[in-house]
Amino acid sequence: MSALQSSSETLSGLIADERRRFLEEHPRSVALSAQAAAVWRGGVPMHWMADWASPAPIFAAQGVGAELVDVDGRDYADFCLGDTPGMFGHGELAIANALADQARRGAGFMLPTAAAVLVGRLLAERFGLPLWQAATTATDANRAALRWARAVTGRDRVLVFDGCYHGAVDETFVSLASGAPAMKAGLVGQVHDEAALTRVIPFNDVAALEAALAPGDIAAVLAEPVMTNCGMILPEPGFHDALRAITRRTGTLLIIDETHTLSTGPGGYTRAHGLEPDIFTLGKAIAGGLPAAVWGVTADLATRMDAAQARIGPGYSGIGTTLSGNALAMAAMRTMLTEVMTDAAYDRMQAGAARLVAGLEGVIARRAVGWTPVRVGARVELVFAPVAPRNALEMRAALDHDLLAVFHLWLINRGVLIAPFHNMMLVSPMTTDAQIDRLVDAVDGFAGRLESLDA
Ligand SMILES: Cc1ncc(COP(=O)(O)O)c(C=O)c1O
Repeated sequence: MSALQSSSETLSGLIADERRRFLEEHPRSVALSAQAAAVWRGGVPMHWMADWASPAPIFAAQGVGAELVDVDGRDYADFCLGDTPGMFGHGELAIANALADQARRGAGFMLPTAAAVLVGRLLAERFGLPLWQAATTATDANRAALRWARAVTGRDRVLVFDGCYHGAVDETFVSLASGAPAMKAGLVGQVHDEAALTRVIPFNDVAALEAALAPGDIAAVLAEPVMTNCGMILPEPGFHDALRAITRRTGTLLIIDETHTLSTGPGGYTRAHGLEPDIFTLGKAIAGGLPAAVWGVTADLATRMDAAQARIGPGYSGIGTTLSGNALAMAAMRTMLTEVMTDAAYDRMQAGAARLVAGLEGVIARRAVGWTPVRVGARVELVFAPVAPRNALEMRAALDHDLLAVFHLWLINRGVLIAPFHNMMLVSPMTTDAQIDRLVDAVDGFAGRLESLDA
């Protein structure tokens, strides 16, 4: 039996050992977790914080660069980086200084600051779209993009790819179940059938895209350029060209969500691969971990938005929140765009990710496990399948939840954090070779342990 096929029965002893070890080594996190349960529903301020493989949440004390230290004084090489907001490292001094400076002068006024002019220019230069708006998180940016797409095209429907995640955007909570669109399980309190107005098709399926857009009733396709939320799925050669050609031909707007793929390079996947979205959305890392997001539009779309606005007239737009584009967020974005997200930083991230992939490939070869690393710039996914899946259906077939859970806990117990939802590993410009080697060694140890279980 290969490591990939280790059954949950085989793994149960290992899981029990790892859970015991975690509880012994994290007394303070365990105690805080008990106290938090009395005041936070589910024991944490936001329920995702309980989604980690550890038997109690790790309570963070501080992060410096790519190191996170918990309340028990244990340090971790952090490849989760807050699930992307910390892509350029924790505790970045330039950001801390910019925030402190702005906070002393006021956090927000519902008025623009001079920094907004510079930030807009820098976004336009970097990402290639001329006109921008701010939002509070990537969720809000995507919601705004979809609303405007509907307003401009006069069409109700949207299209997303099976396995997508674009934030808490209701109409994207649709996936393919036995080939048919269905609302995702777990959606709380939703009374509308989101599958009624959202078409969902497999990623990389040009024929399905042609068929779905042919009726000419889809306002927009909302897509990550690389799917990063159901494992990581790369576009096949020609897929983005086809996506752009078919959307153009059918009068469908193309929204590219770069929230995670900003890892690709200084201008995101869009600039690196010459994509031409009508709307570009971006959150998480853009303000160094502060809640802030931006979305940009082409000049042509801006003109159409103005015309739609004239038709709609004044009133509550349903777009934007009080804190969107506040002075603190602008100060953080200005610093990110000028001092942190530099070409040199990206060079370090790329070199680190290359080292990580080489290390993982070494483990895979040495241990003869059928795993595959997939990489987009500084973002690496270790897929527990011999061939990189080309859509969510294939990815789901490869998923072994028990194996993932014990793998993540194994890493935590060896001082390594990766994103809790799947095997996503993000390399920051501050990640050291020693931290990368620690991750690779932990993966090697895990693969070795599986071999011994299977023997
Ligand atoms: C691709 C993508 N877009 C948007 C979002 C939403 O980001 P936020 O939760 O910060 O609103 C996420 C969150 O994981 C994401 O992965």
